[in-house]
Amino acid sequence: MTTPVMATYGRLPVRFSHGEGVWLIDEQGERYLDALSGIAVCGLGHAHPAVTEAIAGQAGRLVHTSNLYAIENQERLAQKLVELSGMDSVFFGNSGAEANEAAIKIARATGHARGIELPKIAVAEGSFHGRTLATLSATGNPKVHAGFEPLVQGFVRFAYDDIEALERIAVNDADVVAVLVEPILGEGGVVVPGKNYLAELRALCDRNNWLMMLDEIQTGMGRTGRWFAHQHAGVLPDVMTLAKALGNGVPIGACLARGEAAQALKPGTHGSTFGGNPLACAAALAVIETMEDEGLVERARDKGKRLREQLSEALRGLNCVREVRGQGLMIGIELDRPCTELVARAIDKRLLINVTADRVIRMLPPLIVDDDEIGMIVGTVRELIAEWNAGD
Ligand SMILES: Cc1ncc(COP(=O)(O)O)c(C=O)c1O
Repeated sequence: MTTPVMATYGRLPVRFSHGEGVWLIDEQGERYLDALSGIAVCGLGHAHPAVTEAIAGQAGRLVHTSNLYAIENQERLAQKLVELSGMDSVFFGNSGAEANEAAIKIARATGHARGIELPKIAVAEGSFHGRTLATLSATGNPKVHAGFEPLVQGFVRFAYDDIEALERIAVNDADVVAVLVEPILGEGGVVVPGKNYLAELRALCDRNNWLMMLDEIQTGMGRTGRWFAHQHAGVLPDVMTLAKALGNGVPIGACLARGEAAQALKPGTHGSTFGGNPLACAAALAVIETMEDEGLVERARDKGKRLREQLSEALRGLNCVREVRGQGLMIGIELDRPCTELVARAIDKRLLINVTADRVIRMLPPLIVDDDEIGMIVGTVRELIAEWNAGD
């Protein structure tokens, strides 16, 4: 069927009509186990009653006013986020890219305030930060740049998980004011850096007076078994961006800042019509409350460990499997060759997964996933890889 929707996505031939917990149901009534959560968005699963009630209740009272006026839900959500993160203040937008745009502007404004004419931001190879012009320019993947040059200037690249590469930039480039990095590369193939990477990065930023800016858009909101992935390392960034799971599917993005970075954007220098409106903030408040009530951060840690252990066990002996890795419920299975066709094959088996970096199966199941569902994911993934490897 042709459609006037612009052809920016390669779509899979399935249409979902509704969801229940970790399950999505298509128009024919077939049930699919969603091990992807809309790419790390629906952490509470589909149609969680607490989120549904919050959205419906707020929609019946007030959807939008404007950032010309004070917004109670926005203030409550900002308060909650600063308490959970130890940051000072929050700017709200509608997406991950928009949250990262705010971070980029904060870095540049900080540089200008320090008297640097053309401030630069260090960004990692293999990273993904969004599809707007500034965020695609920050992204460390030439495929994302292709066809959209000239790129936005002011980014210098370094190899991920290599502190010495950053030390070299510090020595050679006095215009760098910030580093923007994902705690775990998501789109880049679920790459988990060495245990000390973030602590060393924090120390390097302190030595060079750089802002440490963490893109937690995929890793945040409990996904890795802490509210924010950097909390595993016991460090505090200067800037952190969130989106995806914050609204469980209601669009919302947030850029949190601390200290000097929190002072960078002055009245009238940044804004967003919809950013932080009463509806989106009601959804996000319900998400956080439910995560606290249901202990979902700890659950992500426990269930993630269980899923990774069971996968490692089940896939042992399959010679095409290079590694099972991840943190919490952010999981990658690296195979020895490109395997993008596994996504469609998994759909035939009623399982939703994704492949990144050509050869890494990525799974980001809802944080509410239970042991039976974990068993089903493991069984199906094993069968899927074994059949594919045998050339069936
Ligand atoms: C780490 C990271 N940053 C930024 C983005 C961009 O977010 P959005 O698509 O909401 O603009 C993504 C999306 O996949 C992401 O994974």
